Amino acid sequence: MDRRKFLTSTAALASVSLAGQTISAKAQRILDHDSEEYWQTIIDQYEVPDHFINLNAGHWGMMSKPVLDAFIEHTKFVNSHNSQYIGHGVVTDPDARNYGKEYGEILAMLAKRLGVGTDEIVITRNATESMQLLISGYNKLKAGDTVLYTDKAYGTMMVEMRNLKALRGTNVVQLKVPHPATYENQIAVFEQGIKENPKTKLILVTHMSNQTGVIVPIKEIQRMARGCGVDVIVDMAHSFGQYDYDFADMDLDFVGFNLHKWIGAALGVGLMYIKKDRIKDIDKKLSFGPDDNEEIRFRALTGTMNMAIVLSIKDALYFLDDIGIKHIDRRFKALRDQWVKEFLDDDRVDILNPEDDRMHAGLTTFRINAIENARELGKTLYRDYRINTTTIGNLSGVRIAPGLHNSLDEMDKLAAAIKEIASKQ
Ligand SMILES: Cc1ncc(COP(=O)(O)O)c(C=O)c1O
Repeated sequence: MDRRKFLTSTAALASVSLAGQTISAKAQRILDHDSEEYWQTIIDQYEVPDHFINLNAGHWGMMSKPVLDAFIEHTKFVNSHNSQYIGHGVVTDPDARNYGKEYGEILAMLAKRLGVGTDEIVITRNATESMQLLISGYNKLKAGDTVLYTDKAYGTMMVEMRNLKALRGTNVVQLKVPHPATYENQIAVFEQGIKENPKTKLILVTHMSNQTGVIVPIKEIQRMARGCGVDVIVDMAHSFGQYDYDFADMDLDFVGFNLHKWIGAALGVGLMYIKKDRIKDIDKKLSFGPDDNEEIRFRALTGTMNMAIVLSIKDALYFLDDIGIKHIDRRFKALRDQWVKEFLDDDRVDILNPEDDRMHAGLTTFRINAIENARELGKTLYRDYRINTTTIGNLSGVRIAPGLHNSLDEMDKLAAAIKEIASKQ
């Protein structure tokens, strides 16, 4: 779908919003993008079940209706055009739609957004695939080197890091992140780890922890590690699309993303970034490509992908860009603050990321100190209040991950539910 058509369909949906009043697309666009009036027009573009409040947008994101409609159109198109679309068509019809060309356009949109080259990124099926390719493919390790990660990394990535012992003969060290998190202690934990393990060659850093929502000062960590001769692989599964940051300015080397969480594309798509002059430090897959090749695409051998999912990236980016990442960032913070503010002076409830604006977005975990069993707490929230969340068992926490489809009113309902549960302990 081209941008013009996409905006027309967005407009059609916008025209039913605002509690019965109709509003044109033009009017929608001139509304203050931080106002509740505007956000209601965005909420109206999601089809959400009304028998529960979904506060687990962190597992994967819901497509907005225009993106979902476009994805369905792509699915029909790819299905009906079959291999004609992957190039056979253009042999006889130069104007036929061609996947290679459309893939290139999507790559260019992503590269522009990140401020990197199209030859530094490749589309994968999810963040796990991107991260796995980077961790197991990082070929600068020798037996006896050390690699570090923290207890706030994503479980599968911890396993990948531990697997480097068998794969490369490295020592693997897990660091413990202090709580409460501060800007300084998130850097210090890695700095200290490197100091105590002088053979450290590689660290894994999660930009925004899936366990707590803490955002670490990644630019400073990268700079510190580089100064010590240590490489950094970064997991950006949760920050991309949820939080406004200047990726190019962070000057990172190896990064894994997904595009189906906060970017809002169809489920099953990710992205891998490798800085141009570091591409050879990640193994190419099998014997794919020439021996001396430096092309990132040879580092991800996905085989046939679901092309309709890949095409939906474009629609998802249009949708986000129409709102604006600055407004999205502020919205997620507003949704978080709406419930978190109720507990800042309540010592029955612990909020697991700090108030420092640089260190959180929307996703935030809490615990009720009198309840150790997070699963029970999560169950109570769903059974008694119809609030869908996810639990972080090792922290006795429940993670709240609002999406663009959530309202401030829903966050008030969450706060009221937590207060009621805490008061019963
Ligand atoms: C921090 C982090 N990294 C990686 C992943 C894996 O993402 P994907 O589902 O795209 O494989 C997740 C998923 O929740 C995550 O939270």
